[in-house]
Amino acid sequence: MESKDRTVGGVVRVRVPSTSANLGPGFDTLGLALNMYNELELELYRDEKFDIQSFGEGAEMLPTDESNMIWSTIRLLLSRTGNADKYRGMKMRMYSRIPVSRGLGSSATAIVGGLRAANEWLGCPLDKKGVLALATELEGHPDNVAPAIYGGFSVSVTYEGKPDCIAFIPDIPLKAVVAVPDFTLSTRLARSVLPDDVPRVDGVFNVSRAALLAAAMARGKADYLKMALEDRLHQPYRKSLIPGFDDVTAAARKAGAIGCVLSGAGPTIIAFTLEKEAAIGDAMVEAFRANGADARAIVLGIDREGAKVVSHRKEW
Ligand code: HSE
Repeated sequence: MESKDRTVGGVVRVRVPSTSANLGPGFDTLGLALNMYNELELELYRDEKFDIQSFGEGAEMLPTDESNMIWSTIRLLLSRTGNADKYRGMKMRMYSRIPVSRGLGSSATAIVGGLRAANEWLGCPLDKKGVLALATELEGHPDNVAPAIYGGFSVSVTYEGKPDCIAFIPDIPLKAVVAVPDFTLSTRLARSVLPDDVPRVDGVFNVSRAALLAAAMARGKADYLKMALEDRLHQPYRKSLIPGFDDVTAAARKAGAIGCVLSGAGPTIIAFTLEKEAAIGDAMVEAFRANGADARAIVLGIDREGAKVVSHRKEW
């Protein structure tokens, strides 16, 4: 049976939240969407022509031709939905606020933004789970793309080769203070320092903390977060890549944070708190400086909506 062409066309603008993956114990599994956003506007072209412009964080690093990573992302969606021969180019504007290669999900934002916008443009051939499957295939693990798509706190899993997740809005008015240092760290390098095997005692330690963290978030038990944010699977191996990791986390706790962890693969360090956000941010920046790194602190809340279409108009 011939499938019906549902293409809507026009110009689609989407907004995608930043994310923090792992959250301490939940390596490659837990994630949280934060209210700092990248936006992207898209129109697909039938001809092979590209009109791409980027503004804001990392704009100078993004290619403006067909080698653009968002185009590769969109091409995969076009091919999986039977549209690869119909659309061969695009006009795109990218407006970025999320620091690049810092552990705040900027690459997940680009992937999810490209997929969400192209999917809308084509009349939504994929549902959210379909977008999650493609995004995970491109990103390699689901813990950033899941909260970027769904918003809130997410528990992701890969089952029989397919990603799935439960996402919900935590019942705690948490603030996240992110201390973003002025150096980048590639996820590849941060993964290369991890051992293939870990002692069973560490596995048990992390299973208990990750489960407790999900339960505490769901049940609004802020008093369990200090315990629940502990980790032995990745941070002990990665912290040598981040000058001052122990000092920054200790400074955040001393200034009033409930707990403090590496955001994703780093180098950003994220402190969770219910109060004293400004003092915690200042203490973290100061501790980074004492270790020779400039840093900025940003206070964020939890994003509740995930990737969303903010406008869909006829023309530019
Ligand atoms: N879970 C991933 C990691 C997140 O820690 O390597 C970064 O992409």
